[in-house]
Amino acid sequence: MPRKLPKLTGRPVMITGAASGIGRGLALRLNRLGSPVAIADVDETGLKQTAAALRGRVLTRVLDVRDAAEQRKFADEVRDWLPGPLAAVFNNAGVALSATVLDGDPGDEQWLHDINFHGVVNGTKAFLPILVEQDQGVIVNTSSVFGLAGIPYQSAYCATKFAVRGFTDSLRHELRGTGVSAVAVHPGGIKTNIVRNGRMRQDPEGRSEEEMVKSFDAIAMTTPDKAARIIHQGVEAGRARILVGPDAYVFDALVRIAPTHYYDVLSRIADRLGSQRGQ
Ligand SMILES: NC(=O)c1ccc[n+]([C@@H]2O[C@H](COP(=O)([O-])OP(=O)(O)OC[C@H]3O[C@@H](n4cnc5c(N)ncnc54)[C@H](O)[C@@H]3O)[C@@H](O)[C@H]2O)c1
Repeated sequence: MPRKLPKLTGRPVMITGAASGIGRGLALRLNRLGSPVAIADVDETGLKQTAAALRGRVLTRVLDVRDAAEQRKFADEVRDWLPGPLAAVFNNAGVALSATVLDGDPGDEQWLHDINFHGVVNGTKAFLPILVEQDQGVIVNTSSVFGLAGIPYQSAYCATKFAVRGFTDSLRHELRGTGVSAVAVHPGGIKTNIVRNGRMRQDPEGRSEEEMVKSFDAIAMTTPDKAARIIHQGVEAGRARILVGPDAYVFDALVRIAPTHYYDVLSRIADRLGSQRGQ
């Protein structure tokens, strides 16, 4: 029997990292379309701003996704709050780091790994029992295009995003034959605070942190609203993997066509775009 497609519109969802960027975009979009939303973030101020724009049944929780016990407590609160089956769990919270393997600080790398990978694992383990009990719902874990390709100065970030992808794909296969599914999301550049909030220690062009933020803002192609629409529609279409933005499709194709040389091609594209902008 073909699997029933997941429906999110109008149904309750949980989103981490909802104080900013893609998480906020998802909360606003799904709530506008009638979904009760449970939102969590470590940033209390940003979370309040998101909550102020939401209507109807909303649950907010200041939460560090690194804390497995807090995530389980939050899952219990969500269970009590739910007006119906939980349609989706968006393990979206994440941070960025730019540094070389040679000089990268192990403390930074641990920080990144704990949030980007263990945060996703903690959220999955805390909320999966609710979905399994209902025999419906989707775990939606945010990876990246840097979970498709290894990129210089991004070794730690790429490692966390490849890990999210492997974890989510394994889970998806484990859930075969049940009403629950798992989806990996691979955004390209999305205009959010990810670089501004990150630890940008070094980059290949020797730019300052401020220059890196500016350059990211200039090249990120997709707005958080558009990213939220693509993710929402991708989940409802039953996709196992969702690419977000035209640049994500370029990454995906290049990695297949040139599995070991994709970075040469990417660099040439980046140089050409840079020189066009300079003209
Ligand atoms: N923006 C991009 O270009 C891009 C590309 C690929 C993947 N992503 C991924 O998308 C996800 C969302 O990022 P974004 O671009 O919206 O960035 P963002 O910085 O705008 O939002 C990330 C949110 O996560 C929250 N967060 C950080 N650490 C947390 C913690 N320990 N516990 C709880 N919340 C925490 C932040 O407070 C923030 O509100 C991340 O996983 C990121 O890696 C973003």
